[in-house]
Amino acid sequence: MIDFKEQIAKEISKNVNLPKEEIYEYIEVPSDEKMGDFSFPCFKLAKELKKAPQMIAEDLKQNIHFKEDFMQKVDVVSGYLNFYIQPQEYIKNVLNKIDASKENFGKSTIGNGKNIVIDYSAPNIAKPFHIGHLRSTVIGNAIYKIYKFLGYNVIGINHLGDYGTQFGKLIEGYKLWGKEYNIEENPIDELTKIYVRINNLCKEDETVLENCRNNFKKLEDGDPECVELWTKFRELSLKEFQKVYDLLQVSFDSWNGEAFYSDKMQEVVDILKEKNLLKPSEGAMIVDLSEKDMPPCIIEKTNGSTTYATRDLAAILYRARNYDFDKALYVTSYEQILHFKQIFEVAKYLNLNEKYTQNLVHIPFGMIQLKSGKMSTREGNVIKLEDLLNEAISRVNKIIDEKNPDLENKEETAKKIGIGAVIFNDLYNSRIKDEIFDWDTMLNFNGETGPYMQYIYVRTRSLLEKAGYIPKLEEVDFTQLLDEASLKIIKLIYSFQDTLLQASEKYEPYILARYLIHLSQNFSSFYNENKIIVENKALQDARLYLTYSVGLVLKIGAELLGIQMPNKM
Ligand code: ARG
Repeated sequence: MIDFKEQIAKEISKNVNLPKEEIYEYIEVPSDEKMGDFSFPCFKLAKELKKAPQMIAEDLKQNIHFKEDFMQKVDVVSGYLNFYIQPQEYIKNVLNKIDASKENFGKSTIGNGKNIVIDYSAPNIAKPFHIGHLRSTVIGNAIYKIYKFLGYNVIGINHLGDYGTQFGKLIEGYKLWGKEYNIEENPIDELTKIYVRINNLCKEDETVLENCRNNFKKLEDGDPECVELWTKFRELSLKEFQKVYDLLQVSFDSWNGEAFYSDKMQEVVDILKEKNLLKPSEGAMIVDLSEKDMPPCIIEKTNGSTTYATRDLAAILYRARNYDFDKALYVTSYEQILHFKQIFEVAKYLNLNEKYTQNLVHIPFGMIQLKSGKMSTREGNVIKLEDLLNEAISRVNKIIDEKNPDLENKEETAKKIGIGAVIFNDLYNSRIKDEIFDWDTMLNFNGETGPYMQYIYVRTRSLLEKAGYIPKLEEVDFTQLLDEASLKIIKLIYSFQDTLLQASEKYEPYILARYLIHLSQNFSSFYNENKIIVENKALQDARLYLTYSVGLVLKIGAELLGIQMPNKM
């Protein structure tokens, strides 16, 4: 596909003696189509050229020439140069590219040779995998897929919370009352009960608390009994988490959780000590960050045990060395903004190349709110994700029973729609916004929702099925698609890859989610305005090919968000 923007940048840069790349950055896509397909704000050059924007625009207009005949016209409007691409040129470029790349449409090699580490999901062992982890899992998974599609080498890490003093308590509780609980059957619920009970006992009995501390120490030192119990808790928990990952169809390249770093933290402590950065404070060991206007980063607690932060620092060392990352991304709720600011600051002292310490990125997201109020991600009001996903499926099942009881593959379809609805709802807004969790909104087949997008996709398929064929591109007469509704779709498809690039640069899957809704809505208008199965074969072929193209892009885009498309619904 010709990159029109690049061609324009090239031509302008020849005339103003500025690098093409810089001009490229300035070129906009006007929100009002009447202002052209691309627009160059000449005031960006006013300082450099010491001329008024309007004059620059007039001069440029005289001097730029496009070899290829893809440019329809160039206009000067109040200091802007507006470019209008030949509609046919758009159609030709887009449809040729669709034909050549099919399900690889939009793919790029821009990321080749670059390594991206994404740390996401990361539930805590022996605690519920609750709705707060949903966002990390879903956002991280979408970013993972988009980066991969753009050619990056991506490493997805599930940094499980499988370490910490609470395991000393769990071990003690299990030793005391293990037989009373069926942890094989229902690991998370039962372990949570044990944890609550032992915590209460600790408050009453100092010696029990002491035993718990010892257990954790023993676990760190590799005591066989403690390690065996810890392993059991971890395995049982993972088995339960896996049910959620299976429903969401999310997988990871690495399951190295916090415990993985238990023997790798000493190096962090040593480096900080050697640099005289480790200071005692109220019995703990800290790195003072007051110069950066932050509270201190605690490296060792009063009782000598290491912290969440220390494990993250060890993980940065490990990831730099083992993955040689160009970027390391962390997807968690905004509650952890300070934590990541602190460890990214301390990481600068760990003798790592700047290539690594400059490219640590926290990707925070907002809370999930039930219509009834806040849903904490840390405690209280815990809704289990597995239950929630199953409820989504059963709600869709009911809708199908009402609307289309004879649908084949009902179970499979309900799953795709139900899970898709939850994922889409999670990705539709800028991630930092709090998310409202409301069944009626996310399952509305006419709203800006996953089911709506899936419905439009299914529409494209049923149209092609009704016609009985997908036309060959050679048979498509591009002039049949010059009407407004068709062109709008062509231009949207043209901007698909650009949408993916933007979503990746900003770590914002919502940019893709909104694009897909936009494309769906435009197809819906196209379809309402134009009959597709018609007498005129040339017209029908062109419209069918457009229909096929829309379906293709919707499916590619949905899959990048982690959503499966049903074939019928
Ligand atoms: N387990 C943590 C939690 O549930 C999230 C871990 C995020 N990743 C990291 N490297 N700190 O809050």
